[in-house]
Amino acid sequence: MTGWTQADIPPQHGRLAVVTGATGGIGYETVFALARAGAEVVLASRNDRKGADALQRIRAAHPGASVSFERLDLGSLRSVAACAERLRAAGRGIDVLVNNAGIMALPHRQETEDGFERQFATNYLGHFALTARLLPLLRGRKARVVNVSSLASWQGAIGRDGMPAGGGYAPMRAYGHSKLAMLVFALELQRRSDAGGWGLLGIAAHPGWARTDIIANGPAGDGRVRGLWRVAELLAPVLGQSASAGARPILFAATAPDAAGGGYYGPSGMFLSGPPAPTRLPPQARDAATAASLWDASQRLTGVVFGDGA
Ligand SMILES: NC(=O)c1ccc[n+]([C@@H]2O[C@H](COP(=O)([O-])OP(=O)(O)OC[C@H]3O[C@@H](n4cnc5c(N)ncnc54)[C@H](OP(=O)(O)O)[C@@H]3O)[C@@H](O)[C@H]2O)c1
Repeated sequence: MTGWTQADIPPQHGRLAVVTGATGGIGYETVFALARAGAEVVLASRNDRKGADALQRIRAAHPGASVSFERLDLGSLRSVAACAERLRAAGRGIDVLVNNAGIMALPHRQETEDGFERQFATNYLGHFALTARLLPLLRGRKARVVNVSSLASWQGAIGRDGMPAGGGYAPMRAYGHSKLAMLVFALELQRRSDAGGWGLLGIAAHPGWARTDIIANGPAGDGRVRGLWRVAELLAPVLGQSASAGARPILFAATAPDAAGGGYYGPSGMFLSGPPAPTRLPPQARDAATAASLWDASQRLTGVVFGDGA
């Protein structure tokens, strides 16, 4: 896999990919590359205007591209259910589901309409519910479910009750909890697929450090860039990689024959960049007891149970 790039994506004709948070950043680069490789791609995002603009840009670059937009707000379990229902009504099996959408380090604690801390809800719980609801379309076809995580997962902790641990709200720690949950979820999905014969792959990936809107949409979301985020913004053009390069580990997990169920892939080079390779998991991501309690808590909180056809 040395030097793996978008040029190494195998032909994707006849395959359907659904990518969340696909109107910008890493999600956009992911759908752009999948569409270029011939996949039919659904951009599942919350902003209709940005969705229309993304579709137009992809079609302009690849006139034969088969791309469409589905409205999805991962911070709303109602929106997740409605999006999944539309995809299920369409009835097409899904070959690749990229759980990419994310927000980072909101300066102040916010809650979603369902009453959950917004980063945990958007980055993790919404994706858990979406994947569970789409299971009938993913089963039995070696579909790849790719959960986008982050090195910030090393800052996260899941308690015995399956809930984020560690006291009051801290912006980056809350992000870390959500990204650790995405890792635990990917690995547990693989275990449960193996045990239950679901016939799918749970894989995780992280983009390293990529220049996207994630700081503008998160820590600077109230118009002010504070402390270390200002330093990060200044260094990003020098040390951060492009969004396209950041998408490589995600595309590797989604398409490469070498990517394995239960694997975790990230940039292999210096400064959180470079070609994709297997990467280290935080210890808690491998812990089976944590996975069981997170799974139970997630089913209880979302009201969605894997495998019951919800
Ligand atoms: N950039 C990095 O260095 C980096 C590092 C580690 C991990 N990541 C992860 O990579 C993923 C993509 O981030 P990015 O860097 O590309 O950031 P980005 O440029 O801010 O893009 C995030 C995407 O997620 C969407 N999104 C946010 N909230 C949503 C919601 N409630 N429902 C549906 N979509 C929503 C955004 O849509 P709107 O445009 O409508 O807001 C946007 O399309 C995230 O999971 C992030 O945690 C990024």
